[in-house]
Amino acid sequence: MLPLFSKQTIWYSSEMEKNSLFLDACNGKNTKRPPIWFMRQAGRYLPEYQALRSKHTFVEMIHTPELAHEVTLQPIKRYGFDAAILYSDILVIAEPFDIYFDFIEGKGPQLRNYDDDIHDLMNKLTAAPNFDVFSYVYETIRELKLSLKSTPLLGFSGSPFTVACYLIEKQSSKTFSTIKSLIEESPDLVHKLLKILTDTTIQHLKNQINSGVNAVQIFDTWGAILEGDLYHSFSLNYIQQIIKAIKPLNIPIIVYSKNTHQRINDLISLNPTVLSVDWNSSLDKIAEDYPALCLQGNLNPHILHDSKEEALLQAKTICNEMKDSQRFIFNLGHGILPKTPLSHVEAVVNYVKSL
Ligand code: CP3
Repeated sequence: MLPLFSKQTIWYSSEMEKNSLFLDACNGKNTKRPPIWFMRQAGRYLPEYQALRSKHTFVEMIHTPELAHEVTLQPIKRYGFDAAILYSDILVIAEPFDIYFDFIEGKGPQLRNYDDDIHDLMNKLTAAPNFDVFSYVYETIRELKLSLKSTPLLGFSGSPFTVACYLIEKQSSKTFSTIKSLIEESPDLVHKLLKILTDTTIQHLKNQINSGVNAVQIFDTWGAILEGDLYHSFSLNYIQQIIKAIKPLNIPIIVYSKNTHQRINDLISLNPTVLSVDWNSSLDKIAEDYPALCLQGNLNPHILHDSKEEALLQAKTICNEMKDSQRFIFNLGHGILPKTPLSHVEAVVNYVKSL
């Protein structure tokens, strides 16, 4: 079913979703308690996820609508999170150009189908994108909308710079030094790459929205490795283009940004519906400076992993700080760690739901 949009900022696609705490918080409406969901909530900390994952690779799972559908629902069934997030990955975005990735155990994603040379990558990316390859994503979304009933579904993309880091390096890196050197040596080439990724991302997000997602989140994990003006021109600028293009579709846009606590003003200038921050940012300080903004965050996933008591204390501090704000969504400051004990997750979810 396609979302019905009204002219006002009402982001409800059905009667049932009108009871959504998550969409209410995005909309600045009073909620009886903060809505809660976790980045990477469908993942290896769940035994039911592990059970499926022992039979299939990660890449197979995200590409198979029945499996992606089941995995997306797992954390909703177990914990009743207030939003579901599509089980996919930011790195699928190059698939319309016939660029795929594998997931290597213990190493992370590995991009393939092009030589290490940037010109070979650019050659592939200048072909006409074939969005038909994403039919599995859109089918998964349509199926999820039928199953989720009143729980809203989030779609997502990576920020163009974050995706470019992986495409250029072809794998995870702590510093992404290759893209940094390339920015110095051939800035125009990097801009060309980022522009292609931006246009592809806009189309992919629009397609996700037309397939039924109720909100989208843009993951800006690596923008902060750029300094000063480079951050503006190579990272922020392209997120801005995506937001401008998606805003008229009238659904909440969440920007998640990591390690950017010193750049909050820049992120606010993007005018997202929700700003999602890591644990180095102070939620109450941002809320004081920008009372109209909806914030999401920011429990440290390492603390959630390490200690139930500490995690509960932190969760309480966060919720106390944000108790006067109508615009707050409880989340982690980054994705949940694969070995996080279930009892820690349960304790925090129960606490937030008891408020
Ligand atoms: O929040 C969600 O669960 C939605 C789905 C989602 C995944 N990855 C699933 C996933 C989303 C939104 C992402 C985003 C993503 N993927 C980012 C940006 C956010 C971030 O975490 O910084 C990045 C940089 C990637 C690329 C990627 N994919 C990496 C670096 C990894 C390895 C991480 C790890 O846990 O080892 C992946 C794999 C991945 N993406 C998994 C999941 C559930 C683990 C796969 C598995 O082993 O089953």
